[in-house]
Amino acid sequence: MMGDLERVLLTAEEIQQKIDDIAQRINEDYAGKDLVLVSVLKGSVVFMADLMRAIRVRCAIDFLAVSSYGKNTTSTGAVKILKDLDMPIENKDVLIVEDILDSGMTLSYIMNLMVVHKPASVRLCTLLDKPARRRVPITPNYCCFSIPDEFVVGYGLDYNEQYRNLPYIGVLARHVYA
Ligand code: PRP
Repeated sequence: MMGDLERVLLTAEEIQQKIDDIAQRINEDYAGKDLVLVSVLKGSVVFMADLMRAIRVRCAIDFLAVSSYGKNTTSTGAVKILKDLDMPIENKDVLIVEDILDSGMTLSYIMNLMVVHKPASVRLCTLLDKPARRRVPITPNYCCFSIPDEFVVGYGLDYNEQYRNLPYIGVLARHVYA
């Protein structure tokens, strides 16, 4: 798979170090609260698995699956829920866990949707942020890495459902998708 990459952007060690730092902040911010981590499938599963094991405060976990709105077409930002939350989040402190914040459309939709269920709070934790691509104003509360606008895969992120199993994040070589 290395031949499909232009270069490694973030090593497994760099990612783990940053997750430990972010988890430390989460531990402080959520001490004594009723935390529910909500992972948005599928890209965030690897990040979720590492982040939750670095978090030391009590928490529950849940998963959401949403349909992709089709990034290459003009989008209304409409997102379809394919799998809703299993547990009620009323009065809970919800932390959405995502792999990447890009246009912001998916996440702003999800954050608005959460609010309907009357949680005590809703915040966003993203592994990667591509601020250059933003179309909707949304800022993550916790962000591990702000990255340039390049096609990245690995550590949960895919191209055509492949490369999610890479333990690091790499820039996909142009010949793979061009
Ligand atoms: C990615 C990511 C976010 C969304 C971000 O999911 O996990 O959900 O795109 O993009 P946006 O900021 O432009 O809305 P994707 O649709 O690739 O699905 P996946 O997680 O199953 O790979």
